[in-house]
Amino acid sequence: MKQLYIDGRWVDPRSGDHFDTLNPATGEVLEEVASAGRQDADIAVMAARRAFDDGTWGLQSAPRDRSALLLRVAELIRRDRDRLAELETLDNGKPLGDAHWDVDEAAYMFEYYAGWATKVMGSIPPVGPEAMSLVIKEPVGVAALITPWNYPLLMASQKVAPALAAGCTTILKPAEQTPLTAIELARILDEAGAPAGVFNLLTGFGPEAGAPLVEHPAVDKVSFTGSVEVGKIISRAASETLKRVTLELGGKSPNLIFADADFEAAIDGTCAGIFANSGEICSAGSRVLVDKAIYDDAVTSMIEEAGNVKLGSGLDPETTMGPLISSEHLETVMSYVGAGRDSAAVAYEGTVPSDPGLAGGYFVPPTIFTDVDNSARIAREEIFGPVMAVIPFSDEEEAIRIANDTTYGLAAAVWTSDVKRAMNVARGIKAGVVWVNDSQPAPTESIWGGYKTSGVGRELGPWGIESYLEEKQIYLNLG
Ligand code: NAI
Ligand code: MG
Repeated sequence: MKQLYIDGRWVDPRSGDHFDTLNPATGEVLEEVASAGRQDADIAVMAARRAFDDGTWGLQSAPRDRSALLLRVAELIRRDRDRLAELETLDNGKPLGDAHWDVDEAAYMFEYYAGWATKVMGSIPPVGPEAMSLVIKEPVGVAALITPWNYPLLMASQKVAPALAAGCTTILKPAEQTPLTAIELARILDEAGAPAGVFNLLTGFGPEAGAPLVEHPAVDKVSFTGSVEVGKIISRAASETLKRVTLELGGKSPNLIFADADFEAAIDGTCAGIFANSGEICSAGSRVLVDKAIYDDAVTSMIEEAGNVKLGSGLDPETTMGPLISSEHLETVMSYVGAGRDSAAVAYEGTVPSDPGLAGGYFVPPTIFTDVDNSARIAREEIFGPVMAVIPFSDEEEAIRIANDTTYGLAAAVWTSDVKRAMNVARGIKAGVVWVNDSQPAPTESIWGGYKTSGVGRELGPWGIESYLEEKQIYLNLG
């Protein structure tokens, strides 16, 4: 059984319980993993609390030491690149090339925040001749980091790196579907010399291992990426102790193609925006809004593009789309496909792999629904699978109106060669990120996060480290 990592040691859970993590391409068991409970969570929180309060990390630690640790972690991630990528593919199902990309981004995440550790600066606002006011930034304290299964190592790194750079101590609770690279990350942090208690790993389920962290009075901050439903549960639970909360939730992101766009680039980017990572992306461009002037051509080309998708095992170099994460998720996505059939036209539906070795895998082929009404369920609810809903529009105003007619506000893409239109649409759409002539880039150096029900707070870039900092005023009477 893969153990928990608490206070610098590998330990069994108090209950002795474990769960299986599966290979979603075959349905076979990969590993038995420790299932943490409330007692384990409590021990981990107290270890993190001690390491923060006794000056091992946090306020008394030297920024350059924190920076050095993060650089060593990045180096070890790069050293173990192939092993990590293979584990990610086995546990999550994604194509190996994509998993390599994730691992490289994770390493860079640690390098990037290693730089910030030594550059957190305060300010001195002028308050008059008889006083001085110093605004300094301090780590918020113990941070609970709860992550999803779609980019397991990368999402963990996106939280662990800035939290440690800021000086917070951490407890990571990875998704139960994909614990393996988080376990490797714990091994790497240990090898890199993270002091005991600075990083703790609790593998296990949300209600058993995650909820106790959110409720714990000794936890100061929760950063969560996952579903809106659990985001609300966490927000409510965290309010009891008024924890700082960052929530990165779902989306139903619009992708607008105007008639004046570079047609091929728009089709390529639009398809990648919903079919990459099997559509299991919070910012997936799942609502494809197309100018009526090019509607038929666009649909024909997107069908052609979808036909090129090669479903299979992520370990097969030919594969461009892996399975979904689990049988439960497959059921959910297929129920949306059913709902789509009742409310829209099926323009394309691919086929699942015929390889008998993959018969137990959770494959859903790329699916395109056309003439979708924006009020239909498949246009309103997050599907988190390779299911595209195509919606026609007549003009810019209507396109913006449909784009904003959603409870979500994570991302949007606009394809046009008219710079004025690009800016007008970008300003008009209520979302945390708007791509112009692109879809899905999330540069580490810039900002990420949602409007409306897509989230609270921001990650990446300087905003990422800010979310683990408090600001304090020190007022000196000089009169
Ligand atoms: P989820 O929101 O249940 O899981 C995300 C994480 O939260 C996991 O680590 C889970 O163990 C934890 N968790 C669950 N309940 C918890 C609780 N009560 N307290 C603390 N932690 C808890 O997501 P799930 O069920 O795996 O996927 C359902 C849907 O959520 C997907 O179909 C998709 O629509 C959305 N989702 C969005 C993601 C994103 O990137 N924004 C990532 C994963 C899922
Ligand atoms: Mg798995």
